[in-house]
Amino acid sequence: MSVSNDLYPNASAPLERKESGVPHVRKGLKVESYNDFDPLKHVIVGIADNQYIPEACPASNEKIPADSPMRGGKAGRRTQESIDQANECLNGFAKLLEGRGIIVDRPGAVDWNARVTTPDFSISSGFGVMPPRDCLLTMGKSILMAPMSFRSRYFEYLAFTDLLREYFESDQECLIEQAPRPRLSDDSFRMDYVAAYEFLSDEETMARSCRKEYSTRETDILFDAADVMRLGKDIFVQHGLTTNLAGIRWIKRKYEPQGYRVHTLSFKDNHPIHIDATFCPLRPGLMLLNPHRPLFDGQREIFEKNDWQIVEAAQPAWDTPPPLCYSSTWLSMNTLILDHKTVCVEATETAQMEQFDKLGFNVLPVNLRDAYAFGGGLHCATADVLREGTCEDYFA
Ligand code: NVA
Repeated sequence: MSVSNDLYPNASAPLERKESGVPHVRKGLKVESYNDFDPLKHVIVGIADNQYIPEACPASNEKIPADSPMRGGKAGRRTQESIDQANECLNGFAKLLEGRGIIVDRPGAVDWNARVTTPDFSISSGFGVMPPRDCLLTMGKSILMAPMSFRSRYFEYLAFTDLLREYFESDQECLIEQAPRPRLSDDSFRMDYVAAYEFLSDEETMARSCRKEYSTRETDILFDAADVMRLGKDIFVQHGLTTNLAGIRWIKRKYEPQGYRVHTLSFKDNHPIHIDATFCPLRPGLMLLNPHRPLFDGQREIFEKNDWQIVEAAQPAWDTPPPLCYSSTWLSMNTLILDHKTVCVEATETAQMEQFDKLGFNVLPVNLRDAYAFGGGLHCATADVLREGTCEDYFA
């Protein structure tokens, strides 16, 4: 069933492309990326079209602050005004990238209003497709759709299937893959934990997190692509709420035979979800670490032994995230690196911009704060299709 184009003015894969039933072939299109800092040539930028706040679910409850209205009564379509403001930011970002010669694609239209129902669960609506980074994991010449833990995000990959199909037909070396689909039934979560969660103090949630107890259990294979940090041959995966140990074992078993080395990272963080506002590669030899989320003991060693410098990120400009936002103020360090010397930073994050300047980067300010509530910052809002460069061994 097709979805009204009026509700999805920014979506790609227009109908005329689909009507023939034959995927469009784009000459010269190539899928390949091994890290987050080599020269970016082709990227997907998310859209805020027709986005919904879903009912809370067991995994999302752990992420949403206890006092947030999103815990309960706020489920429903986001206001048109907020959707338009977010799209203005995202479209401006896409235009900036295109102005620098980078190819930009946008996700396709999916009816997020539809109730998400499987034999195991049912939830009010989908989420949306502003943060492609959470769902799509580009590993060399392949793109993998991740097995995410929020029930509302179960069908999010559908927004990419037409684009990915096009990539598959256009690049004869490109492989499109899907991780095992999780069930996300009540058995997949510690329901007692979820019920107790909102009554726990920050100290208690931190203690649980340091014991590596999360609302997700090991029943399903779970990971979000945004928990995976790619550094050439070495892949670092954050264990936390959205990625369980079974997910990390799956990533290991899938990619290590291809020559990658997979490492697990844990941070002292109340809500460990998505590594890209916690520990971010800036260029070969340089990492940016969230000063409030230190690595577990012993986990800096691989970086230090290989002469990688770890610098602490500057303080965010804001004391609170925007209303109805799932993320923390540390989206300040969630940037998009265009090459070893150029970085896109949210335009209000003055301290973070100054830090990049001192580190020798040309900083491109981008207005994105009005899109934060739709799924995160500049890194979240994108997914790599092509970066120049090869699969380097930085940790020999
Ligand atoms: N854990 C993150 C997610 C942002 C990408 C946060 O700081 O909210």
